[in-house]
Amino acid sequence: MKSEKRKVVGIIGDPIEHTFSPAMHNAAFKHLKLPFVYEKFHVKSNELQRSVRGFQKSGVVGLNVTVPHKERVLELCDFLSKEVVETGAVNALTFHDGRIYGDNTDVYGFTKSLREAKTSLRGKKVVILGAGGAARACAVACVRGGASEILFFNRTVKKAQEIARFLQTQFSFHATLAFSLKDAHEMMFSGALIQTTSVGMYPHDEMCILPAESFPPVSCAVDIVYRPEKTKFLQIAKQKGVNKILGGLPMLLYQGARAFEIWTGKKAPVEVMRRALLQQMKQ
Ligand code: ATR
Repeated sequence: MKSEKRKVVGIIGDPIEHTFSPAMHNAAFKHLKLPFVYEKFHVKSNELQRSVRGFQKSGVVGLNVTVPHKERVLELCDFLSKEVVETGAVNALTFHDGRIYGDNTDVYGFTKSLREAKTSLRGKKVVILGAGGAARACAVACVRGGASEILFFNRTVKKAQEIARFLQTQFSFHATLAFSLKDAHEMMFSGALIQTTSVGMYPHDEMCILPAESFPPVSCAVDIVYRPEKTKFLQIAKQKGVNKILGGLPMLLYQGARAFEIWTGKKAPVEVMRRALLQQMKQ
């Protein structure tokens, strides 16, 4: 039997050292005996365009895109999915027939992780901490999920204002407001509090975007950071008696599963991928 040529996919970002994506995807390829390999590539901002073109030329099938390239990579794409247009951010590229296709599988990942946890945002007021690419994906999932209002709190208030305006244009969704993170202590009750910054991520486990005393009374707290599994943010939420607490691992899993399906055309073995992630977490 002729051996199939190995196909390469991967992830670009800066930093990229601690990513769990290779373990999750390579476990899935192995399980389905697909001739794919998933690698991580350290790409700095000033190398983004040259690197992406280089990967395209060398026959790479697709790439996940992470911090800090999710927004800037958009201008290199020939085709944008609906989710990319709605978020203004790309987390998955596919190279096909000399074209670059941009997708945002984070929207699906976040939506699916809420659904798995039987959490609905319908009619709820949502507070989003952060205003980067991940915040944009979560916000779109919230709008689609029927949230009644979205408040953004960010260190750089200008970026929060940009997202609020962007959502208003994309969805005619007027119930968006932007604030400085410094004013977070004035936050009133909200249905859900969603933490989308990298604060508290390993190895800075002791950090939290909000001091405990600024935590608003909420019924649901989500942190999209997946390592550690129980971030300081989630620990404080628990101490405060928040009813529903959700970490970032399911979002990572489902955004990866969707990218896997785009690149391979096969149904993702989600439980195999989940086990690989949990295994990584123990290391
Ligand atoms: P991603 O695509 O994962 O969302 P990003 O676009 O780099 O990553 O966005 C990171 C988010 O984390 C931003 O909202 C950033 O705040 P600024 O817009 O002010 O930069 C936020 N962030 C990162 N480190 C932070 C810190 N130490 N304190 C507060 N916010 C922080």
